[in-house]
Amino acid sequence: MRGLTLNRTARICRKKAWSHVLCAGVLIFTLSVFTFNTPFLSQAGKTASKYSEELLYSKFPDFRHHNRNLRNILPNDNAQFHRLKHIQRTGKSLNKAHRLAANWNITLTSELSQAEVPKESEEESSVEGESLKKRRLPQAIIIGVKKGGTRALLEFLRVHPDVKATGPEPHFFDKHYQKGLDWYRNLMPETLPHQLTIEKTPSYFITKEVPARICRMSNSTKLVLVVRDPVTRAISDYTQILSKHGKSKSFQSSAFIRNDTTKINTSWIVIRIGLYVKHLENWLSVFPLKQIHFVHGENLVTNPGEEMRKVQTFLGLRTFITEDNFILNKTRGFPCIKKTMSSKRGHCLDESKGRKHPILPESVIAALRRFYRPFNAKFYRLTNINFHWT
Ligand code: A3P
Repeated sequence: MRGLTLNRTARICRKKAWSHVLCAGVLIFTLSVFTFNTPFLSQAGKTASKYSEELLYSKFPDFRHHNRNLRNILPNDNAQFHRLKHIQRTGKSLNKAHRLAANWNITLTSELSQAEVPKESEEESSVEGESLKKRRLPQAIIIGVKKGGTRALLEFLRVHPDVKATGPEPHFFDKHYQKGLDWYRNLMPETLPHQLTIEKTPSYFITKEVPARICRMSNSTKLVLVVRDPVTRAISDYTQILSKHGKSKSFQSSAFIRNDTTKINTSWIVIRIGLYVKHLENWLSVFPLKQIHFVHGENLVTNPGEEMRKVQTFLGLRTFITEDNFILNKTRGFPCIKKTMSSKRGHCLDESKGRKHPILPESVIAALRRFYRPFNAKFYRLTNINFHWT
C-alpha cells in the first residue's frame, strides 16, 4: 500500500515540471511519515513504555493516577539504568519521584535514590529557586562531644543533597552570643526551603548557658550528640593538646591529684568533658530527651552506614547515605565517604582526625575506667542506650 502510493507520486512528479517543487514536499512528507510510523518503530516505543508501566502498576497501583511523565521511574526495574539516565536528563522528574516515594512510603532503589539531581537544583536555583535561596538559622546542631567524631559526622552529612552545613565551628551560643542572631544567620550557607541547615560546635555540650539560648532561638531545634568512650575521648583530647602545644605535662600529672590514681582531677577539662551524664542533665532541663539524637562514636567508625541511617531518620531526611557510601582507608583504619556510588575514591578526613594516641600505663587506664563507670551507667539509664563502654 505504501509502496503504491510512493510509485504514483513519483510518476506524476516526472511528467509535470511545475509540480516538482510540490512533489518534493509531498515526497519528503510521505517518507517522513513512513519512517517515523513504521510498525517496527512504533511497536518498539510502545513496548518500552508498556513494559515499564505494567511493572510499575503491578507494584504501585496508585501510580496510575499520577503524572504520566513519571511512569518511567521504577523502583527495582531491571531497565533501571535507562530510566535513571532519563531521569537524570530530565532532572525535574527525580525530585517528583522522591516526593512521591516519600508520600507512598516506598523506597527507591539505592542507585535511583543516589542519583544526583544537579540539573534540578541548577534549574531550581536559576529559575524560581534563586529567589528562594537564603541564609537560614540552623534547624539542627551537632552539640558535641569534642573528639567524639563530630567532624566525621558533619562531613558525612554534607554529602546529602538536602543538607547544607557550615565549614568552621560558629561558636555562637558559647562565645559570640552577644553578636546576635543576624550575625549567626550570616555564617550559615544559603539554602532552598526544603534543605536542612546544620552546624557543629562541640563545646556547646559542656557550656551551661547554651541549651536555654538554643531554645530561645527555636525550641524545635534538633540536637545531635556524638559520644565515645570517655576514656579514649580523654586520651584523644590529650593527644590533640600534645600536637598543638608540643611538649606538655604528662597525662598523669594533670589527670590525678598529687599523682594519686584514686583522686581524679575533675577540674581538668579533658576529664570533665567525659562526665556526659552531668552535661546531659543540664540539656534535659530545657529539651526533652526525644529531641536529642545520640550517635555511637565507635560505631560511626566501624559501621558508619548504620549510624548515618539513624541520623538521617532523626533529622527527617530521606535515606541517601548508606553503607555503600563508605570505603575503608586500610592504612588509617577509618572510613572515608564517597559522594556518589560510582566514585572509586572516598573523601577522608585530614591528618588531625584519627591521630595515633600515646600509650599510657595500664594502671592509668584502669583508674580512668573505674572513675567513669558509675557516670556511664547513669548516662545509659538516662538515654536508655547501652554504649557498652567497659
Ligand atoms: P582520634 O583522632 O583520637 O582518633 P572530632 O571530629 O569530634 O574532633 O573527633 C575526632 C575523632 O573522630 C577522631 O579521634 C577519630 O577517632 C574520630 N573519627 C570518627 N570517624 C572518623 C573518620 N571517618 N575519619 C577520621 N576520624 C574519625
